[in-house]
Amino acid sequence: MEQSRIAQSIGIALDRFIKNNQDQFQYASGELSQLLRDIALASKVVHREVTKAGLVDLSGSLGSHNSAGDQQQKLDVLANIRFTRALAKGGEACAIISEETESYADLNNDGKYVIAIDPLDGSSNIDVNVSIGTIFSIYRRKSEPGNPITASDILQKGSEQVAAGYILYGSSTMLVYTTGHGVNGFTYEPTLGEYFLSHPDMKMPVEGKIYSINEGLANSFSGSVQAYLQYCKDRNYTARYIGSLVADFHRNLLKGGIYIYPATAKDPGGKLRLMYECNALAFVAEQAGGKATDGKNRILDIIPVDLHQRTPFLVGSTMMVEKAMSV
Ligand code: AHG
Ligand code: MN
Ligand code: MN
Repeated sequence: MEQSRIAQSIGIALDRFIKNNQDQFQYASGELSQLLRDIALASKVVHREVTKAGLVDLSGSLGSHNSAGDQQQKLDVLANIRFTRALAKGGEACAIISEETESYADLNNDGKYVIAIDPLDGSSNIDVNVSIGTIFSIYRRKSEPGNPITASDILQKGSEQVAAGYILYGSSTMLVYTTGHGVNGFTYEPTLGEYFLSHPDMKMPVEGKIYSINEGLANSFSGSVQAYLQYCKDRNYTARYIGSLVADFHRNLLKGGIYIYPATAKDPGGKLRLMYECNALAFVAEQAGGKATDGKNRILDIIPVDLHQRTPFLVGSTMMVEKAMSV
């Protein structure tokens, strides 16, 4: 987007921004716009639940486990319902891949889009009133609409995303997304019930001084990850780790930094999920001038073989990611 157009857009409501930029979509359809609006609407409902979680018995565990064996929190399940319902009602989605369900949800066969979603990211932070998020990826199906969906519709690599982004439920709630034409951030104004453009054409600083990693697991990091941590310490870099990927990523996007979740003894293939955590943030990072890798391969080039597959993840300022890969 050219500079003057962006400057004029500050403060514009999300709906209008989507409409004004609809011509950027590869398929110039109103359907992708509608999907983004559906996601925004569900996020407003989740925002409402998140802000009153302590008052209405929404904190805490549900006692069940999701497909990856993680304890499900009440808000995990609720957020999954909110997003699934909004996307199902809209009719544009033919399938939803979610962290919270073993298999994908088969929706409207006429729908042209497949959504991958982490409805509530950072759920261990719900009970302690710390920032949490939602992460989403949107793909266009490969098979002809009107037919049952196929594995090739579901297991697409990240480079095929047509839009992706996240919602951060932080000190304010923000929606940040890309359709492959840069990254824009919107801040939610709860009294008006609207998102407004607050962070146009976001760019990640190419170099940074913040590193985000769960250092408690350092004994089982590879030699190169340990060497990179030492490199950061030798230069008095700043360690910041919230434990909510969305929040850690967002801070590093604004300030310059690197987020690393490497292979560990507990999770030899990494902990984070390729399809509904890493791909979306990798797309946003690249669109903002940053970089995302599993240590060897570009995240967006990895061909998924499983809905819930995990990957080591290094994402952030380009020079930091390149350094981390070369030590
Ligand atoms: P989720 O709440 O969706 O399961 O994701 C948790 C993820 C991510 O948000 C965070 O960065 C990471 O797990 C934290 O893991 P550790 O507690 O192992 O550091
Ligand atoms: Mn997550
Ligand atoms: Mn989650």
